[in-house]
Amino acid sequence: MDHRAARTAAVPVLDDPRRVRTQVAIIGAGPAGLMLAHLLSLEGIESIVIESRSRDYVEHRVRAGVLEQGSADLLDATGVGARMRREGLVHHGIHLRFGGGDHRIDFGALTGGRGITVYGQQEIVKDLVAARVAAGHPILFEVSDVQLHDIVGEHPSVSFRLDGAATTIECDIIAGCDGFHGVSRGSIPAGVLTTYEHDYPFAWLGILAGVAPSSEELIYCYHERGFALLSMRSPTVSRLYLQVAADERIADWPDARIWAELQTRLARDDWSLSEGPVIEKGISAMRGFVVAPMQFGRLFLSGDAAHIVPPTGAKGMNLALRDVSVLAEAAAAFFKTRNARLLDEYSTNCLRRVWRAQHFSWWMTSMLHRFPDSDAYHAQLQLAQLAYTVNSRAASMSLAENYVGYEWATT
Ligand code: FAD
Ligand code: PHB
Repeated sequence: MDHRAARTAAVPVLDDPRRVRTQVAIIGAGPAGLMLAHLLSLEGIESIVIESRSRDYVEHRVRAGVLEQGSADLLDATGVGARMRREGLVHHGIHLRFGGGDHRIDFGALTGGRGITVYGQQEIVKDLVAARVAAGHPILFEVSDVQLHDIVGEHPSVSFRLDGAATTIECDIIAGCDGFHGVSRGSIPAGVLTTYEHDYPFAWLGILAGVAPSSEELIYCYHERGFALLSMRSPTVSRLYLQVAADERIADWPDARIWAELQTRLARDDWSLSEGPVIEKGISAMRGFVVAPMQFGRLFLSGDAAHIVPPTGAKGMNLALRDVSVLAEAAAAFFKTRNARLLDEYSTNCLRRVWRAQHFSWWMTSMLHRFPDSDAYHAQLQLAQLAYTVNSRAASMSLAENYVGYEWATT
């Protein structure tokens, strides 16, 4: 898509609040929905975004933090990367910590200068909401009772309640960008989708802490008590994670217990972990999930609505941004020529990248976590894999090229 030749989309007429028409109805104002709306607007395509939560809620939901090179480039190329470039932290490597030592994977040297940008997902959401609001395009927050209609025909629609009033959007295409728990995927009739699913027997406890990160780069730590991760959001805010049992309750983890466990797992003789006030904490399940195809009729699923990965590979938000890039390009071709070929190929084009990321996330998770049925033999296999990964240039390169974002020769 040529973003330099951007045109401005017309603002949909919302005079009759009960029945409106647009080209693309977008369900969900997460990274997928907001980036899709932005890309479509650059192509001169009208859309309306509806979101069940408030603007304040989506702008402050703490989740992902790592942008692949291609995701950061996408924000830049489409004019919403200025704050990311000012405030984001560009990294050219990560550390794998095991056996009491650190081993750096040098992304710059192994991938021809590529890297990652650490920038909170909620900051991207704020930047995309601000761009859309400034352009005068609609995002309808706090809608309820969202239902999809006639998705197999040429005139699909979405109904919902806004401030208690029943409203319907008539459109050409519906984009289901409403996350794992949204309504879009469930609107597809039984028997159409094949579901692939894997639940991991542990969870991640994550904290945001008001303390300078104790490392400039991320540290992925293998420990006999379980995995730990040191990440960050800014020079004064750390983001840290602990592997915990799948049924763990956050109420059983007072701050002192979290810090003590992080200290134990991340300990190294010549290094110390700085502690600070815990700003936010929560527990997230670890799951791999994919539905295929990612399309039914005029409904296209993007991001977590279609697939989720365990967070160890930092891929979820990046996949969401890639899906909508593919969808925006296909929609642009469709509205320009009424040729649906790219729309028909959307699912196939996305799923190849989705499965690569699923495999990478599973591989990182399997290598770095303690499993409930782990025995001494399994632990030695993990340590052998870690040692090979950091010592073999080929293995390091494989991790590096997947982490910064594997680029297929063709899409
Ligand atoms: P979402 O962000 O879930 O957005 C969906 C939106 O739809 C939400 O705003 C929701 O309120 C709305 N919605 C739901 N139902 C409805 C409805 N019926 N009507 C209207 N709106 C609705 N990914 C990475 O790439 N890198 C990382 O470092 C990373 N770390 C993570 C760490 C943790 C602890 C977690 C939990 C996730 C992490 N992820 C990471 C994954 C990433 O956060 C998700 O993949 C990403 O949010 C997907 O974006 P999305 O827009 O598809 O879905
Ligand atoms: C984060 O900073 O939130 C983060 C970083 C790396 C991951 C997952 C989450 O693999």
